[in-house]
Amino acid sequence: MAPHTIRWGIISTGGIATTFAKDLLVDPTTRNVHDVAHKIAAVGSRSVASAQAFIDKLKSFSGPSSWGVQHGGLDGATPYGSYDEVYADPSVDVVYIGTPHPFHHQNAKAALLAGKHVLCEKPFVMDLAELDELIAIAKEKRVFLMEAVWTRFQPIAYAVQEVLRSGKLGRPRRVTAELSSCINMDELADDDRMIDPKLGGGPLLDLGPYPAVWGMLVLHQHPQNQDKEPQVVDFSQRIYKRNGIDEMSAFTVRWEGLAEARLLTDFTACTPLDNACVVDCEKAQLIIDHPLYRPERFRIVPHAGSTDDIPKETEHRYPVPAGNGMHYEADHVARCLRDGKLESDRMPLTESRIVQGWFDTVRKGGNSVLKDWPHTAGK
Ligand SMILES: NC(=O)c1ccc[n+]([C@@H]2O[C@H](COP(=O)([O-])OP(=O)(O)OC[C@H]3O[C@@H](n4cnc5c(N)ncnc54)[C@H](OP(=O)(O)O)[C@@H]3O)[C@@H](O)[C@H]2O)c1
Repeated sequence: MAPHTIRWGIISTGGIATTFAKDLLVDPTTRNVHDVAHKIAAVGSRSVASAQAFIDKLKSFSGPSSWGVQHGGLDGATPYGSYDEVYADPSVDVVYIGTPHPFHHQNAKAALLAGKHVLCEKPFVMDLAELDELIAIAKEKRVFLMEAVWTRFQPIAYAVQEVLRSGKLGRPRRVTAELSSCINMDELADDDRMIDPKLGGGPLLDLGPYPAVWGMLVLHQHPQNQDKEPQVVDFSQRIYKRNGIDEMSAFTVRWEGLAEARLLTDFTACTPLDNACVVDCEKAQLIIDHPLYRPERFRIVPHAGSTDDIPKETEHRYPVPAGNGMHYEADHVARCLRDGKLESDRMPLTESRIVQGWFDTVRKGGNSVLKDWPHTAGK
């Protein structure tokens, strides 16, 4: 049977939109996917020249994405000089939003109101009020809405959960997870997205979703977890003096009755390469490599004096066969749409709400210039 093909409208032409679009063009059979496929139907940018340049650039790549170009994945893709024209294009099934996070709410809201399904980059929005408005609109319009936390859909994420759910490591006792990136902030221009307050700069919102996703996958979704509303119980931020954004954010989330996760993100130091996330369990540690957005290896290291259940350290590798690995989430969205689902069971909106709530707690309780961010909910 022919695969079910989904037609994407890409909003914005920046770094991550390029990576995502390239992955849409990778041959799905390289990851053993035969039931769904992807086509780029439209690209929206603030200028039509940039949208056209984006399409031309996609055509010029020689790597795995060239397969899609040769097999019609970009045929007839329309460049638009506005985002609204993509939302109005009947040849678009679902809109992917890759603008800086302060614009996610307005962009996603406009797409939903136009009746389009939406996949929106992380962090979903700037605060919970914005997210709740999007959820209400998606429900009313009966369209699909999901946060693009691509890590959740990678084979390694399912493999880690399978090990933990099997119970062979015992109960989890503590999680530590870090995604940091020593980016030399002082050398960045004032309007660089990573540090510009107007563009939501700082590691909490940019990198924080990745330590958070492992807390969610490992503890929130653990069969022994009963706590549906895990809270931030402790946090700290260090402020970048040049413009008042956070340069480091650390926070502890507690799942009552199960365990805590200590989550860290920092623009001034690098993550330890081979232990970015440590899940300490009764009998062993499960240790995941950097980078937590797309790790390729985890290890199981028995505690000293452990029983015969786990006699020695083992290593488990999950390289992405072709492309960057964002295609796994695209495949998931395609299946949801094919099956008429309005919400993902792998990335449910309730779980996006939980993580957005943690960011609200840290941001509003901290001292960065984003503390009193004027959200756009209701506007
Ligand atoms: N999933 C991941 O692994 C991942 C990785 C990186 C980033 N992200 C997320 O994706 C989003 C975009 O990040 P990025 O690194 O792709 O950013 P980027 O390279 O700066 O691109 C952002 C794009 O947004 C559009 N845009 C609209 N209004 C803008 C404004 N006022 N200033 C700047 N750009 C504006 C621009 O496209 P047009 O000119 O075409 O309109 C621009 O190219 C962020 O929310 C980030 O957290 C996710």
